Amino acid sequence: MLKKSTVAASAALILTLLPAGPAEPRRNFPSFIGVAACKKCHESDSIGNQHKIWSASPHARAHQSLSQEKGIEIARKAGVEDASQSLACLKCHTTGGGKTEATKTEGVGCEACHGPGSLYHEFSNHASFEARESSYRKAVSLGMYPILGYDGIKARERLCRYCHTAERPCYPESTEERKRQQLPLGLIADFVFKHPLRRR
Ligand code: HEC
Ligand code: HEC
Ligand code: HEC
Ligand code: HEC
Repeated sequence: MLKKSTVAASAALILTLLPAGPAEPRRNFPSFIGVAACKKCHESDSIGNQHKIWSASPHARAHQSLSQEKGIEIARKAGVEDASQSLACLKCHTTGGGKTEATKTEGVGCEACHGPGSLYHEFSNHASFEARESSYRKAVSLGMYPILGYDGIKARERLCRYCHTAERPCYPESTEERKRQQLPLGLIADFVFKHPLRRR
């Protein structure tokens, strides 16, 4: 049997070997702030009203679907009580996987695909009418997911496939429906719900 004092001594030793204290909250760590923050500017027709295009896409309805007949049925089969509140569904049916109060019910919003926006959402941190390349690089350093070039395509493939996978409770049983829901690389590269910037 170990003596109490030995246990205490080894506990003290372990403590001195651990890195100092409980980790401080990470400052400058990007978090999800919600579609409304992007809408403020991105509903403007002068830059292409990306918000309107998104609103009309299935991604904007992704949270609502959880409370509709089909959603309730799928949840029942998966043994999930309240799909609209359960992380088992919110993981892919809203921004931030349901872990952030501000985005819990918005569906697959801007930041689900563009990255948590707390640090880049201000104009000067992600956009510029004169120097796009450098403002884009700044945005990516502040949490925006890449969309340009080869990195952009690779990141997009991972992004879409993270949710559009067969490993989900709502994966259909019928072969025909499975086929319909396939998202081949061609469809990912040639993104179906385009919402281009209007540039002068
Ligand atoms: C203060 C206004 C404003 C807000 C708020 C804002 N944006 Fe923007 N954003 C713009 C403008 C203006 C442009 C386009 C500039 C241009 O034409 O080059 C832009 C460009 C972008 C681009 C394209 C960047 C590039 O170089 O390809 C993305 C992606 C983007 N915004 C996403 C978002 C997201 C997501 C949010 C919310 C988290 C957001 N924006 C919030 C004004 C804003
Ligand atoms: C955070 C998870 C998530 C990400 C990331 C995501 N999707 Fe989706 N997507 C969904 C959900 C959930 C739905 C179903 C929405 C609904 O109808 O309720 C959906 C619906 C769709 C649909 C409509 C399918 C149909 O049956 O009509 C297409 C097409 C699609 N997504 C393409 C994409 C592409 C391309 C990407 C990558 C650029 C992408 N999605 C990224 C979760 C996601
Ligand atoms: C791994 C990601 C993921 C998880 C977890 C997930 N879903 Fe889905 N869900 C999707 C995607 C992607 C689609 C769109 C598929 C398509 O149509 O191509 C979808 C579509 C749906 C649809 C729309 C079907 C239709 O055509 O009307 C419902 C309803 C749904 N899911 C319910 C649920 C429920 C309930 C849960 C939790 C028990 C859940 N999902 C968990 C990714 C996910
Ligand atoms: C399902 C994923 C998804 C969602 C949701 C989404 N985007 Fe995008 N967005 C993309 C992808 C992928 C691209 C790159 C498209 C391309 O290069 O063709 C893009 C491009 C953009 C661009 C640049 C377009 C250009 O011409 O360079 C802006 C601006 C933008 N998104 C803003 C938004 C805003 C604002 C929202 C929310 C209202 C939003 N996006 C929602 C995936 C998404």
